[in-house]
Amino acid sequence: MENMLHLTPAHASSIPDGFLLPADHLRPATAAVAVSLPVIDMSQGRDEVRRAILDAGKEHGFFQVVNHGVPEQVLRDMEAVCHEFFQMPAADKAEFYSEDKSKPNRLFSGTNYETLGERYWRDCLRLVYPLPSGDTKDWPHKPQRLREVVGNYTALARGLAMEILRLLCEGMGLRPDYFVGDISGGRVALDINSYPPCPDPSRTLGLPPHCDRDLITILLPGAVPGLEVAYRGDWIRVQPVPNSFVVNFGLQLEVVTNGTLKSVEHRAATNSAAPRLSVATFIVPVDDCVVGPAEEFVGEGNPPRYRTLRVGDFKRMHNVVNLGSSLNQITNLKNNQQKEI
Ligand code: OGA
Ligand code: NI
Repeated sequence: MENMLHLTPAHASSIPDGFLLPADHLRPATAAVAVSLPVIDMSQGRDEVRRAILDAGKEHGFFQVVNHGVPEQVLRDMEAVCHEFFQMPAADKAEFYSEDKSKPNRLFSGTNYETLGERYWRDCLRLVYPLPSGDTKDWPHKPQRLREVVGNYTALARGLAMEILRLLCEGMGLRPDYFVGDISGGRVALDINSYPPCPDPSRTLGLPPHCDRDLITILLPGAVPGLEVAYRGDWIRVQPVPNSFVVNFGLQLEVVTNGTLKSVEHRAATNSAAPRLSVATFIVPVDDCVVGPAEEFVGEGNPPRYRTLRVGDFKRMHNVVNLGSSLNQITNLKNNQQKEI
């Protein structure tokens, strides 16, 4: 528990060594290029939304959605209850704290990846929403309304993810239910991220550069900026749009589409002024699901660029984030019979 940043006021003035990252891992986000993530209004006509999602997905691998159908009150309640959780006295949180990465529901600090000693300025409450039961009895019982609010939020965020996957199928010529079933039905994992103010944002990160390993991620970004996305060799800082979600593709979707849609690297920066809360909702295939390039994306002149793997095996291979070279994460996935792309 003493690892938890938000319980350690001493961190406000001095940063323990492990957090200070080497300068070559900390290239700042560029202010020079005025690129922002596309914002897609999902209340437009279906054709327009489909086209916008595909275009944004191909160009950035990341986009923001507004008018997505999840009521504003659900977002505010979610943010409020997550904030309340982190504000509770340490004793109330202690039973949830665990460094055992195999535990589905736990409170911890840093990242789930193996980082070879490097530390990250983030506390996280990770919750797993089991499908199909949606049984939340193993979630924290305090604050009292947490299970109801987070359960309701998760069901709606998952619904949005499934709708975006359906739109992608329509746009790419996959059968509309391609992502229904085991490939999206393992569990919904929720990372509720708390980034306390950090006295030295230029030498720390909240999360290392990484690609999400799931199918698709729906991020509630919070009002305080912090998410940075790789774009043409630079990092662009995402300016959150009120009531939006940030959507990005996980490695499983990159594999299914044989690289047509890319899972793009991103990281979380810290800041010294304001605490930040974000919630990532990951749509994860069941471990026994075998995922490989869909036949629609493979053909003459278009060989499979990725290996077909059991998801459980894939996850075991991808638990190391090596800063500065984290793009290597996907090299194990690439089809070794093919030339490097
Ligand atoms: C994540 C993630 C970004 C953020 O949880 O995988 O990339 O802005 N979060 O918190
Ligand atoms: Ni991520």
